[in-house]
Amino acid sequence: MDKILVRGGRPLNGTISISGAKNATLPALAASLLTTGRIHLSNIPHLKDVTTMLELLGQHGSAITIDEKLGVEIDNSNIVNFMAPYDLVRTMRASILVMGPLLARYGQTEISLPGGCAIGSRPVNLHIQGLRAMGAEIDLGGGYIRARAKRLQGTRFTFDPVTVTGTENLLMAATLAKGQTILENCAREPEVVDLANCLIAMGAKIDGAGTSTLTIEGVDHLQGCRHAIIPDRIEAATFMIGAVLTHGDILLTHASADALRAPIDKLKSMGAIIEEPDANSIRVRCHGDIEAVDLETSPYPGFPTDLQAQMLVLISLAKGTGIVTETVFENRFMHVSELQRMGADIRVRGNTAHVRGSKRLIGAPVMATDLRASASLVLAGLAAEGETLISRVYHIDRGYERIEEKLRALDADIQRVSG
Ligand code: UD1
Repeated sequence: MDKILVRGGRPLNGTISISGAKNATLPALAASLLTTGRIHLSNIPHLKDVTTMLELLGQHGSAITIDEKLGVEIDNSNIVNFMAPYDLVRTMRASILVMGPLLARYGQTEISLPGGCAIGSRPVNLHIQGLRAMGAEIDLGGGYIRARAKRLQGTRFTFDPVTVTGTENLLMAATLAKGQTILENCAREPEVVDLANCLIAMGAKIDGAGTSTLTIEGVDHLQGCRHAIIPDRIEAATFMIGAVLTHGDILLTHASADALRAPIDKLKSMGAIIEEPDANSIRVRCHGDIEAVDLETSPYPGFPTDLQAQMLVLISLAKGTGIVTETVFENRFMHVSELQRMGADIRVRGNTAHVRGSKRLIGAPVMATDLRASASLVLAGLAAEGETLISRVYHIDRGYERIEEKLRALDADIQRVSG
């Protein structure tokens, strides 16, 4: 199994191009199931999760053409299978995103229940309740969700709590439902807005994308479209944090600062200098001391939970103490014990982590536990003295495109080693 070896202590310097967003690509691929017209998606990142979603579509019967430069074209004129099996769903929970489209377009689907994962129990009860409110008959049994509907009916449904893929699943389902659907307390993430834009290009009638209320007038058919996926804000911010903690100076291109207001504000208050030379680039540097801050994760436009692990590393290297509160997932501090092995002074109590900053982390063998946790270990390795060897890096390949190549281009001493 591959590992990543980092020799720390070199500042990140140079220019890096940000890839398309994983969390916008997955729903857009699932949305293709809503039409038999051809869907052409560009700016698709090369990631394990994207391959898994393409594999899932392939076994439903999608004909997929991949062009490394131009993107992916999907032809769903021959969908033959409505089942998402356990083997695929357990490797990627976002497989649940095919549920709404298959039910809306074909009136049936059978999807493995995703189960728990490293960051908590992660239920899908709201996806199910929402589809039931639209008239679907849903049974749970044998680890599967079996759903049937003649035609979904418009409804009014409120999410509690806010859920990103839940909002996306119901939004997709509502596009082909009969009548009007009003979804309240929706996720406002840029990836939800990107999905809405893709659906609108397919002919869907959606109002309110980016607000907490989505109003959808169901249509009888959707058509093919061309859509370019937005840049990955989590990848961008991960590199930004890397520049700050190594006291480097980097320019991100194909990046959107507008999608990163909360992280940018936080990094500035820690001492980073952040500029926006134009609408698609961000320059980040840090020369002086890094100051500790408190932070609390929350749904967009709050501070993203997908950056919590990376920020813990940065606060561990800051002057002073900080309290990090995780409000989105119940068990998202698995990376703390690995960071402690590198010398980080972090104590977890319930959903808060108390961090006492220090100027030093020391390289050690560590193990990645989930996608964003693995990114935090790479960042810790960049700042640490000596060598950090990270195992189970398959987690990182789910969500970061060629991370070691991109970091090497920024002067980092990092390599992938097999065995
Ligand atoms: C998405 C992102 C993930 C990110 C997360 C939160 C994708 C593919 N993944 O995951 O990277 O970390 O948003 O920003 O876009 N919940 C329920 N019932 C449900 C659904 C969710 O109680 O039916 C709860 C969850 O347990 C969690 C909270 O809602 O506490 C938010 O989870 P959710 O937004 O659904 O996360 P995902 O969509 O799975």
